[in-house]
Parts: sequence; C-alpha cells; structure tokens
Amino acid sequence: MITIKLWQGRFNKDSDSLFEEFNASIFFDINLIEDDINGSIAHVSMLAEKKIISETEKNLIIETLNNILKDFKNNLITFSYSDEDVHMFVEKELIKRIGDIGKKVHTARSRNDQVCLDIRLFCKRKNEEIQRLLNNLIKKIIEIAENNIDVIMPGFTHLQKAQPILFSHYILAYGQMFYRDLIRFKNNYDLIDFMPLGSAALAGTTYDIDRFFVSKMLSFSSVTENSIDTVSDRDFILEMLFNIAVIQMHLSRIAEEFIIWNMDELKYIDIDDAFCSGSSIMPQKKNPDALELIRGKTGRVYGNLVSLLTTLKALPLAYNKDMQEDKEPLFDSVETCINSLLIITKILETLKINKENMLKACSYGFINATDLADYLVQKCGIPFRDAHFIVGNIVKYCINNNKTLDSLALEEYKQFTDLIDIDVYNEISLECCINKRKSYGGTSKESVLVQLKNLKEKIEN
Ligand code: ARG
Repeated sequence: MITIKLWQGRFNKDSDSLFEEFNASIFFDINLIEDDINGSIAHVSMLAEKKIISETEKNLIIETLNNILKDFKNNLITFSYSDEDVHMFVEKELIKRIGDIGKKVHTARSRNDQVCLDIRLFCKRKNEEIQRLLNNLIKKIIEIAENNIDVIMPGFTHLQKAQPILFSHYILAYGQMFYRDLIRFKNNYDLIDFMPLGSAALAGTTYDIDRFFVSKMLSFSSVTENSIDTVSDRDFILEMLFNIAVIQMHLSRIAEEFIIWNMDELKYIDIDDAFCSGSSIMPQKKNPDALELIRGKTGRVYGNLVSLLTTLKALPLAYNKDMQEDKEPLFDSVETCINSLLIITKILETLKINKENMLKACSYGFINATDLADYLVQKCGIPFRDAHFIVGNIVKYCINNNKTLDSLALEEYKQFTDLIDIDVYNEISLECCINKRKSYGGTSKESVLVQLKNLKEKIEN
C-alpha cells in the first residue's frame, strides 16, 4: 500500500517497509490518544484566542477531534504501522475528515513538544491514580493493624527468631514504607506539572502564542522555562520509574514474607484461594502465584528504570529519536505497579491471620533471651555484656537439655547466678517482653497505638 506521509515533501522514495515498522511507535503510543487529543484541543483554543486561526476553524477542529476519540473508543477507526505514531495518526484522521482546516492544527507546534505534553499528561494521571491506590493500601493496612492490635508473633532478623513483636507493629512497618512511597509520588507530581507545549521543535516559535493559556486550560501549575531543555527532558519519567521501582521493591518484600508465612511449616497466614492457583500434576497444590508474580515482576520494573537511564545517557540536546524508547518502559512499569497495588490490597482484604500459630512460634527459639539479659541488668545489677554471656550459657544449657527459658526451674537458673529470682518468669513472659518496649516507635501496644494514630492522621479518608 502506498501511503503519503505528512512529512513526505522532501523525500523521493517511500520508506522501506521494514524501517517503517521499526520506526513506528503507534502500537504503544496509542495509549496516549486521549492525552494527545486533549492537548490538541487546548492548542487550537489558544491559536484561536491569539487569532492565529479563526473561531470557526477552532470549533470545527475541536468537534472533529472529539469525534475521532469517540470513534476510536468504539473501534470504528484502526491504525497501522504506516501511521507512524499517535500524533500523525490523529492529525491524518483530522485532515481526512475536514481537509485544509485540519492541516492548521500543527501550526506553532512540533511533535517534539507535542509528545512531551502527551507524556506529561499521562504521567500526571497515572501519578494521581497510584497515589490513590497507595492511600487505599495504607488504609487497609491501618484497618488490619486495628483489628489485630494484640496479636503476638515472632520478629525476625536474618530470618531467625529475634524478639517477639505485635503483628500490628509488623504490618504498620509496611504502612510507613507505602507512606514514604506516597510522598515520593507527591514530590514527583510537582516536577511533572509544567506545561511543555510551545517549545516547538527545540527553539520556540515565531508565532505570537500564549503558553500560559494552554497551561491553564490543561490544569498545569506552570510552564517550562527553556525550550531546549523541555524537548530533551525525561527526568520526570525516570523519577516515576524509580518511584515505581521502590514501591515494587516494598511489595516484593511483603510478597516474599507472605509466601514464607503461608508455608505448611509455618502457616502464620492463609492466602485466599482467589489469589492462588493449582498444579497441573500435583492435585494437592495451592500455590501463591499472585505474590510470586508481584515479586517476579519487580525485576522487569527495575529493568525499565535502567533501560531509560541508559537510553538517555550521552544523548546530545535536543530531541533524538532514541527518546521514543521512553514509552514502553513507562507504560509497562505503570501498569505493573497499578495491578500489583490492586492485587496486594485485595490479598490483604482476604488474608487469614492465624494468631495461634504465630503465638505458638514464640514459645520456642529463645525469643525472650534479650529480655532475660535485660532482667539481669535491671533487677540484678549485672553489666549488659556479662548478662549477655550468662544468658548465652543458659540458652546453651536449654538446648542441651531440651528446655525453654520459661520451663527452666528456678534452681537451674540459680546455677548460673543466684541473683535470679522467681519474678524472672513474669519478666520474660511474651506480654511483658512486648509491653516493656515502650520506646517511641517500639512494639509495645502503647507505642503501636501512637504509630497507628499518627499514620491515620496523614492519610486521606
Ligand atoms: N513518536 C515520537 C516519540 O515518541 C514523537 C516525536 C517524534 N519527533 C520527531 N522529530 N520525529 O518520540
């Protein structure tokens, strides 16, 4: 099929068909069609305001652009590689429908600033969506913490039992991470929120345009300052990709923990059937695929960040076609992040917390050994380093005699130091271990309630 390109004038030949396919971004940047059309509507409104085109022309262009979007959504128009990109596709469709008037849409504009506008509009929308999803996830975490405020579980370091903690304390740790992610997105929004159109190819334009008019119409806070920087800048995308990588890293950590906790050997939690799948050969299997995929997709999301960083490295100013490679990583990371956030929120909604198993797991593994050492310091006046050594010996004795710190008789304790008294049993009880940790941010119920209240106050309801 012979197609006339909108830029064909200078050329003697048609494009090589393989190159045409290689060059085309339409199959992915079609994602931007709504942003592209909204951008063009604002642009022609400004052109009319500045008397660069007439009111009648503007009205016809806007009406036609709206129809193109409607027809596209209803699958009444299709595109092919020869349409090159979304900008060419929309412009070609406009010209097809209204002829010469359609040819005026690109006055005082280049695809270089047009693509920047589209992608900033896209990033603003998706940024807001991700902020909403993070907010919902944090709300869900707060609700789970409130409903399980007293549940005790082992806290780990090196994936070895360390000290008892409240489950509410544990889950609120993720609340803090996702809250920081939310702040990072809010900060990123402020850097996206500059209107780029009017920078044209790179040097600005000879027409008497009003960039602030377009900015206001499209609800940007301000306009970009330097046209060369504007068409070359993809920092805001990099930052979004980084912010998504951090969210995905946080999600991957919780996914990993839930996968482990869901094992038969632990069963601290049960993941709902709706987020697991079976095996084609082993009838008994219920695999936590949703969580594994959240963990697995994190690798690709990191790759997307590195991919764009590498694309931009050493690119001379201003626009280069390399920059077309910004979109697939961005679209992929955004979609993965949105789906992962939606799924983890649903998994939390349906999560069964097996508090008996969590509690039982605290009864072995010498999880209260630090508290025994603290008892020797606080009640017996022994220096901490000596107390640590004595408790190490007691633990060794328990391992050799198959005992726990709670089941050791007072006479046995007294073999190590006769400063130990009957009150030791209360001091090393789980409740005591937890509720003595009243330091700000600690695991006592009192401290967790403060964390809960503070986080709740920062979140939108
Ligand atoms: N499809 C291109 C991109 O995504 C649009 C800008 C093309 N500009 C150009 N001068 N060829 O980067």
